[in-house]
Amino acid sequence: MCGIIGYVGLKSVTPILMAGLKRMEYRGYDSSGVAIPQDGKIVVIKESGKIDNLSKQVDKVDVFGTIGLGHTRWATHGEPSQLNAHPHSDTPGKFVIVHNGIIENYYSLKTELQKKGHNFTTQTDSEVLAHLISELYEGDFEQAVRLALTQVRGTYGLAVLCQDEPDKLIAARMGSPLVVGVGDNENFIASDLAAIVEHTRNAIFLDDGDIVVITKDNIDHSRLDQKEVTTKIERISFNIEQIEKGGYPYFMLKEIHQQPNSIRDSMRGRLNDVEGNARLGGLIDFEKDLDNVKRFVILGCGTSWHAGLIGKYLIEEMARIPVDVEYASEFRYRNPVIGPDTIAISISQSGETLDTLEAMRAARQHGALTLGLCNVVGSTIARESMGGVYLHAGPEIGVASTKAFTSQVTVLFQLALSLARRRGLPVAEGLKYVKELTQIPEKVSRILEKSDMIKEIAEKFVDRTNALYLSRLINFPVALEGALKLKEISYIHAEGYPAAEMKHGPIALIDERMPVFFIAVNGATYEKVLSNIEEVRARKGIIIAVVNEEDNMMQDFAHHVIKIPRCHSFLSPLLTVIPLQLLAYHIAVLRGCNVDQPRNLAKSVTVE
Ligand code: AGP
Repeated sequence: MCGIIGYVGLKSVTPILMAGLKRMEYRGYDSSGVAIPQDGKIVVIKESGKIDNLSKQVDKVDVFGTIGLGHTRWATHGEPSQLNAHPHSDTPGKFVIVHNGIIENYYSLKTELQKKGHNFTTQTDSEVLAHLISELYEGDFEQAVRLALTQVRGTYGLAVLCQDEPDKLIAARMGSPLVVGVGDNENFIASDLAAIVEHTRNAIFLDDGDIVVITKDNIDHSRLDQKEVTTKIERISFNIEQIEKGGYPYFMLKEIHQQPNSIRDSMRGRLNDVEGNARLGGLIDFEKDLDNVKRFVILGCGTSWHAGLIGKYLIEEMARIPVDVEYASEFRYRNPVIGPDTIAISISQSGETLDTLEAMRAARQHGALTLGLCNVVGSTIARESMGGVYLHAGPEIGVASTKAFTSQVTVLFQLALSLARRRGLPVAEGLKYVKELTQIPEKVSRILEKSDMIKEIAEKFVDRTNALYLSRLINFPVALEGALKLKEISYIHAEGYPAAEMKHGPIALIDERMPVFFIAVNGATYEKVLSNIEEVRARKGIIIAVVNEEDNMMQDFAHHVIKIPRCHSFLSPLLTVIPLQLLAYHIAVLRGCNVDQPRNLAKSVTVE
């Protein structure tokens, strides 16, 4: 989510750091900074906004060095601001650190360090690392870093400078990528090959648990657990364009494949596998409101509105609290029945969708408590809501929303679970839900392995002009989402419907040219969906069915069957949506469409 670059060598470090940060702009960020040791001190310059803002500040400072660190921040804890930008340092400025990832136990570490007299200046989790290293330092830089990392829980890709040893930088990886660039009398560290590939194509990809101590002419590669490590220098053949997309042809495909990790990040540090519960930090101040709420209103647009429909099922099924889901653009102009006993949840990946923002403002004017479910930290909806939960899905660059949708559903499930547990759901039941959710990322990975098979199905529908998506109950919103994906990136008209609605009109559309995508995973209405499939089949419609792996019946009814792992029905949208994302992607690519920037669309609709 953030970008890291480090250099140590014989050249002037500043232009190398700035060029590297520019190369990582595509990853999305809200602030940036550099740290350069000079004359026994470490000069830190950081700025919010674009890299150009930082460049202006760097140009003003007369700093020269041949070692340094740079960072672009995508905020997860703490508003995007100059203060919260990396690098971060301990109070005396002896240690300076850049960090990518989430320190889950930062709060307890911070509390302990504050008791020992450490003064924190930012709201970030990352700053804790600098103070912890400082606290543990007894003259040995590497030892202090090692000790600090044994106390940290969570994910990190980090790099550290020490004022006392200004010719070396130390980096370590746990859950967030880091690569060492190997040069001649110079070496690099980066979170992203794009930042260093113009300087060297010789790379050491660090593994989780690796630590490196880097000087201009040496790379000491070892492991935190002191086990043997094999250092492998690989030759990079990618070009910059390929690297920015992680080797994928489009950001959308990259983001579809990021979903096992983005779903993990949306539950990281939140699920409690002892109490069978979920703790959403951004809602801690609203526990009384959540106990007394009589109704939720969920506001959103597009994919976020679809996630809201799933949230309705989850909250009503698990916590028995009524939920209304409203198109934000409609809600804001109605005279809604809403008041202090209502909580309005605004769902928005970008946090900038004007209709959703205005609908949230309208809800607040009617006295409702407003909560935001956003991906972009510090976005307008996140800031103006009275509280909320960040998705932690990482930057979503493809216009068609994919990983944000599954992260929205993941957060909504955790909200429903916490509400249910507050309303008497037994621990044992809660533990089952927690277990089921933790198994989802691996099941998503198994579905992603079917991409080639799904592409073969997609090839049969490249020339179609219409499509239908049908399902029932909690997968009806997934039918809507699948139709939206196809519409917005392939320009094929598609509609999602509750399967039973077919007989009330749309069935007139069915003919031998009409592909009908069914979600027919095992659940209370499987038999009903099967009869809907037969109705379509009787009218020569072409049936593509998403079913559970154990389903051996569907092959007798559908023309194409996509099998996915089974899971609890409440979590099934996290799995059933994956084949539909891939189908839309492959059809759009085969039609030669610009998948990442479809015509007429913007990633964030900040106009009426
Ligand atoms: C989804 O693929 C579309 N890009 C669009 O419907 C989007 O979900 C909608 O504009 C809402 O955006 P938001 O989540 O950023 O508010």
